[in-house]
Amino acid sequence: MAPVSLGVLASGRGSNLQSIIDACRRGDIKAEVKVVISDRQDAYALKRAEKHGIDAYYINIKDYQDKAAYETKIVELLRRYNVQLVCLAGYMRLVGPTVLNAFPWRIMNIHPSLLPSFPGLHAQKQALDCGVKVSGCTVHFVDEGMDSGPIILQACVPVYDDDTEDSLAERILEQEHKIYPRAVGLFAEGKLIVRGKKVFIREAGND
Ligand code: GAR
Repeated sequence: MAPVSLGVLASGRGSNLQSIIDACRRGDIKAEVKVVISDRQDAYALKRAEKHGIDAYYINIKDYQDKAAYETKIVELLRRYNVQLVCLAGYMRLVGPTVLNAFPWRIMNIHPSLLPSFPGLHAQKQALDCGVKVSGCTVHFVDEGMDSGPIILQACVPVYDDDTEDSLAERILEQEHKIYPRAVGLFAEGKLIVRGKKVFIREAGND
């Protein structure tokens, strides 16, 4: 079976992109990153892609008359590379209907909290401010809401009294790099079934 073609949208440093590239290259998952797109010219994710010989594009939303036109360009690029699964990896924009409708239940996101707690920006700070004793990360399918789509995988980390936003973010990131490639791998193996708000992971012989 041919590897699943991935398109990654990223706004920043791209460490999650890197974890997916590495898992693909090691052969841990049957997938291949075909294209990386960023809304930020200075995103290190673009450099990572180039280093690995992956085509990378900066799309400036200001060059388009509205968000729909900007997203039409993104969809056109993703289709040009025959992308089957779109991975948001630190992509700091809400995905609009143009991209959502082009890839129904074919868009994943990683978020640095145990959703549905602490969606949106500064998830680690939100967790610290609430005094939670555990936090973590979530991979989910993207719907029209903010970090609200069906949950695929989660991982927990402890929260310590002396944690700062940075120390907690670092502990969570370590888990992000494990569960995001794992979720992509499950998708590539056809094991993810979305039913309403829930994602079921189909094991062999268990339909
Ligand atoms: C990650 O912690 C990711 O979970 C978070 O941004 C960081 C990106 O890091 N995403 C969000 O907060 C989205 N709501 P990276 O660029 O090194 O992958």
